[in-house]
Amino acid sequence: MDTGSFVGGLVAGLAICIAVGLFVRFVFAPRNSAVAAAAAEHAVPLLEVKSDSALLQSQDEPSQATLLRLQHMFEVTGDKLSQISKHMMAEMKKGLASDECAMKMIPTHVVRRPKGDEVGSYLALDLGGSNFRVCEITLDGRGGTRSRQSKHVVTDDLKTGTGAALFDFFADQVKHFLMNDGQNEYSAEEIESRNYKLGFTFSFAVNQVSINKGYLLLWNKGFSADNCVGEDVVRLLSEAFRRKKLNIDVTALVNDTTGTLVSHAYGAPDTYIGVILGTGTNAAYVEKVENITKFKSSGTAKDMIINTEWGAFDDEMVVIPRTKYDHKVDRGTSHPKTYTFEKLISGMYLGEVVRYVLLDLVKTGEIFVAGGSASKTLKIQYAFETAYMSRIERDHSLDLSDVRTVLEDLMHIPSTTLADRRLTRAICEMVGKRSARLSAAAIAGVVTKMNKLDGCTVGIDGSLFELYPHFSNRMRDALHEILGFSADNIVLEQARDGSGQGAALIAALATSITE
Ligand code: BGC
Repeated sequence: MDTGSFVGGLVAGLAICIAVGLFVRFVFAPRNSAVAAAAAEHAVPLLEVKSDSALLQSQDEPSQATLLRLQHMFEVTGDKLSQISKHMMAEMKKGLASDECAMKMIPTHVVRRPKGDEVGSYLALDLGGSNFRVCEITLDGRGGTRSRQSKHVVTDDLKTGTGAALFDFFADQVKHFLMNDGQNEYSAEEIESRNYKLGFTFSFAVNQVSINKGYLLLWNKGFSADNCVGEDVVRLLSEAFRRKKLNIDVTALVNDTTGTLVSHAYGAPDTYIGVILGTGTNAAYVEKVENITKFKSSGTAKDMIINTEWGAFDDEMVVIPRTKYDHKVDRGTSHPKTYTFEKLISGMYLGEVVRYVLLDLVKTGEIFVAGGSASKTLKIQYAFETAYMSRIERDHSLDLSDVRTVLEDLMHIPSTTLADRRLTRAICEMVGKRSARLSAAAIAGVVTKMNKLDGCTVGIDGSLFELYPHFSNRMRDALHEILGFSADNIVLEQARDGSGQGAALIAALATSITE
């Protein structure tokens, strides 16, 4: 899409062609393979650049030395990707054998995927990262579903306040949702007299001991509500329902990755992996029970879905190169040194990495020199949102006018030059690309571990995969670098509303598909 619009631009005028050609020639000189690849992504033929090209650099272009230095820091080569993917397999095996590993590899107790003939209406509650949703899903018995939902922002006060206030907020929203179904209004008494079954999608690491019981291992993604860590979150939710006089049975506790896998498999039976690439990141996949050596099975099921919690992959920092900016981001979180893979990949943190790079370049006088300084806004933690990166990467105008809007109007940088904007765009591209490539390496590891290189579908949900420009293409390219031709057998597919539908399905089937 991006390439198409760019090519359209080329056709539109010779002037654009020359300007862009010069930009690519001088900014993305092919001395460095990743830089060359970045340029190739824009479908502009690379010209042989002579070693004195830096001398020809115009005022409108960022310093090539700066670009190459950063590129070197954020580049993940094909060889590195293969090492990462091998390390992922080794860590998965370790996590299946012991609870003491960083990557928790949690048995979900979901042992079968739905057949499509299930019927009935179920509630689902979805606490992901930034939002909380209440859904009612009706399964029609023919593989189809109808649903209605309400969506609410979880404020920072709720995220960091008391656990009781957080869970009361959920229960209140459920009650409002039930009292008005869009067509009819019901009294509180009517709602209180009914019984409902509910699947709870809780997208945090829990030690899941049965299908509807799980102890919160740690908060992440900006949450720190008190009295929750170490507690059974189903009990916390059920108690809030009781306080609000609601008669709701929480029949399933589901991670969003498990929900995504189950609901995507509902329509695409070849789905064996569910991935989230959004505010946080994680994957669930189908594992042979005999390989889950730490799990004492009481049933006869041969397979079980495992929630990998890959956000904590390589917390020992043995394989993935980190930059000083990644360490700064990590130190600024409420859970330093844990979930460090997630901090390189997910939407909660990517903008923060870019913000630290920009602040550093301000300090060294390599950016925003014309305006004299950074802005107060740029110094605020998390002020540079990952959504801005999407916007910046999508801007192909000659003067990068939308990049200007982000930097000057939203980040309040007093004034920017074209070179500043080009540099900012290149940084977003480096950070965004690294995220996509690391995600692909993790997926390659899981697929290889499952022995599914001959073909399988990966259902992927989350704003990065859905909305971030080039994300899926960059993943695909990286998969090819790691897996060669086998990458063609791996289908990366957008999954939608796995968290809602998947939780409802698992709630519906709690007795038949779980152990
Ligand atoms: C959580 C996972 C979740 C992922 C995606 C991570 O921060 O630990 O449980 O699946 O985010 O939402």
